[in-house]
Amino acid sequence: MGSTMSFVWCMIALALAVMATTATASTIHKVGDDQGWRFPKDDPSFYTRWAANKTFIVGDKLEFIWTGTHNVVEVRKDEYGNCTEGETPLHELSPVTISLGTAGSKYFICAVVPHCSFGQKLSVIVESDISTMPPASAPSSAPTSLLANALYAAMLTITSMFFTCL
Ligand code: CU
Repeated sequence: MGSTMSFVWCMIALALAVMATTATASTIHKVGDDQGWRFPKDDPSFYTRWAANKTFIVGDKLEFIWTGTHNVVEVRKDEYGNCTEGETPLHELSPVTISLGTAGSKYFICAVVPHCSFGQKLSVIVESDISTMPPASAPSSAPTSLLANALYAAMLTITSMFFTCL
């Protein structure tokens, strides 16, 4: 009985360690969660609220999934404000995965009139990933090898924890 319990706690600790390690990997954000990318005419601030409690890091991805007649296009801030389409390519087939490659504000709208004016629009603020930021004065290889060493150490810890559990 006692050993069964300690095995369970051991596996829980192991699971937490794995989660902590993978938390540094890039995230795919499903826009709107289970609502997907839709025309929120009954709730125009839906996508603003959706983005407000999330952190977007360079390397993360946005996944737009919809049914029915919609599309997604990345636009400039003024185009986001005016719901005008701009010049970037329109994605018309769901699902659409967009990589957040650079830091800063990104703006997306559905260009099917009048969806954007009723709230089918999304702005996100993409933050720099500290582990990939260029170093101020250290040699350029240092941050990468530091990160690699940290990941290696974490994997060693997880592996040794796993054998302790047995
Ligand atoms: Cu739409």
